[in-house]
Amino acid sequence: MTRNILVTSALPYANGSIHLGHLVEYIQTDIWVRFQKMRGHACHYVCADDTHGTPIMLRAEKEQITPEQLIERMHGEHLRDFSGFHIAFDNYYSTNSDENRELAQGIYRRLRDRGLIEARTIEQLYDPEKQMFLPDRFIKGECPKCRAKDQYGDSCEACGATYAPTDLINPHSAVSGAAPVKKSSEHYFFKLGECADFLKAWTRAGHLQDEAANKMDEWLSGGLQSWDISRDAPYFGFEIPDAPGKYFYVWLDAPVGYMASFKHRCAKLGLDFDAYWNEGSDTELYHFIGKDILYFHALFWPAMLSFAGYRTPTKIFAHGFLTVDGQKMSKSRGTFITAESYLAQGLNPEWLRYYYAAKLNGTLEDIDLNLEDFTARVNSDLIGKYVNIASRAAGFITKRFDGKLANRIGDTDLVLRLAATAPELADLYEAREYGKALREIMALADVVNQYVDAKKPWEMAKDPSAGAELHEVCTVSLNLFRLLTIYLKPVLPQVASLTETFLAIPPLTWADASSMLLGHAIQPYQHLMARIDPKQITALTEANKQSLQPVAHSPTRHAEAQAHHQPISETISIDDFGKIDLRIAKIVNAEQVEGAEKLLKLTLDIGLETRTVFAGIKSAYQPEDLIGRLTVMVANLAPRKMKFGLSEGMVLAAGDGGGIYLLAPDSGAQPGMRVK
Ligand code: MSP
Ligand code: ZN
Repeated sequence: MTRNILVTSALPYANGSIHLGHLVEYIQTDIWVRFQKMRGHACHYVCADDTHGTPIMLRAEKEQITPEQLIERMHGEHLRDFSGFHIAFDNYYSTNSDENRELAQGIYRRLRDRGLIEARTIEQLYDPEKQMFLPDRFIKGECPKCRAKDQYGDSCEACGATYAPTDLINPHSAVSGAAPVKKSSEHYFFKLGECADFLKAWTRAGHLQDEAANKMDEWLSGGLQSWDISRDAPYFGFEIPDAPGKYFYVWLDAPVGYMASFKHRCAKLGLDFDAYWNEGSDTELYHFIGKDILYFHALFWPAMLSFAGYRTPTKIFAHGFLTVDGQKMSKSRGTFITAESYLAQGLNPEWLRYYYAAKLNGTLEDIDLNLEDFTARVNSDLIGKYVNIASRAAGFITKRFDGKLANRIGDTDLVLRLAATAPELADLYEAREYGKALREIMALADVVNQYVDAKKPWEMAKDPSAGAELHEVCTVSLNLFRLLTIYLKPVLPQVASLTETFLAIPPLTWADASSMLLGHAIQPYQHLMARIDPKQITALTEANKQSLQPVAHSPTRHAEAQAHHQPISETISIDDFGKIDLRIAKIVNAEQVEGAEKLLKLTLDIGLETRTVFAGIKSAYQPEDLIGRLTVMVANLAPRKMKFGLSEGMVLAAGDGGGIYLLAPDSGAQPGMRVK
């Protein structure tokens, strides 16, 4: 039976570059879609840029272009990066489209007509200079808990406290530097509480992974607040019908972007949009997302859809987050490796596709890109086990048998054995258990290599009387190689396509696993894939260390802090300053703090003694790079008891929200010297 499947990946923000973290998701989805297509199903993979909201508006302003110009440029960059990794969307659209406006406004109207929208006046922080309300991330000030300076309006990077922006001490706008004032305005809310019964049932009806459903239970049992879906002008987004000057909050129209992108495709192809989206549709709808945006997809989105009379998702597939060499990629400091830099270093995108696939499963677990393991695994599996099978057998076919495979083979055992695993492998792909699938496939590759090693075709080639046998062994080997290629094709589309050219066959489908290639003329073997040279990995990490420099800092998924002019603090006397005992400190050790998101534990040598300091600089520095460096510390700060231990002082660093720059003395300074 042919299935009609609509698949989405989350819509990347239009103000950030695609990085290796994003790619976990897009590669995971692309593999699944390619697999479905190979199975002969009608499968549409749509995505779009998520273009609305304050950060995009402000970034465009800073670049002195319109938001439309910015999102157009980012659209081009995103598509370039995605296609560089062979991510084959059937449509890559934009949330800033007519289709999306109409659909979002339509959903809003239906919710409103059912009495699910309420208006309420709320008080928020407002930038009197810039004349706009400030999202939490655009307000900075001192942490109300630990008094660390220059913290965001929602959480403290030094002590990890979370709070409301109105709790900040000496708050200032990250946009203009002005002190925000409280101002009230009318907001529109979606009464999620009235959808509670529906959501309780829906989240337990098999649409979510168990772990995700449990998370939802936590949220549901905490009671559902109404969801604020409006923002005041100036805002880059869609105006709310009947409410001039009010705009939909970006997360209202973002998921609708899935529908809009598909609608755009339907118009191009003459497909029936309603058949996919109307209540009771018998098509399948799957959203691949990161676990960080589960809340939006498992609560708001199904409620919006259902109460507006649309179908709800068949399943939501949430995945975990990427770590690189065991460390979280920093979302706000630019420590990520961009898709662009990976490709610019000449690294093969299929290496990463393979490595991610080998690590992926159907759960929400994080996945680690260990760069050493990456090299070893790709070289041993893809080159050592898989590609070599073809290169060993093909030469003989070309040189000795006129490029033609044998008409029949006597020994079909192994071919049948490999062909027989197709259903099991299909189940694993379907369940997104790619890691298991690839382990099975590599175990099969081992068996094939044992076969070749046992037959020793290179010895047969020396024996003129063994011609027929050699022909058969090479024909069997290439048939086995063809089967492995079918199984790997969702992961390695490029290698599969080169193989199709080399074997002179039409695009391989899953069903081809039940046939054999006999009496068929092939093309001379062409190089399918190179090994990874460890030097390439060093070059990659070096290149991304450079992107830690302030100028190259790339924007992030969060509201990017603008280069802002923080007002100079109140004047103090020289005596006040004299109270601060600043010392040159040598970082003799630096290590990760288990469970701390922002902190590194530093051991500082200040001449006569050593101190332990927990510093909120993890996002900007690798501990091993800090060891041996000199910096400046406040040596007479009262020790502070932190969750992870006692912090005996503070190191000095500059920062404007766009990066952290540890201060360092000029050369010649010695640990313990006083800084005056
Ligand atoms: N714009 C929203 C999604 C709207 S969907 C209607 C968004 N964008 S994002 O650019 O921040 O992230 C896009 C997707 O990439 C999300 O699913 C997110 O979870 C995923 N990832 C972003 N960083 C990631 C890692 N470091 N690791 C794995 N996935 C990550 O959220
Ligand atoms: Zn704090």
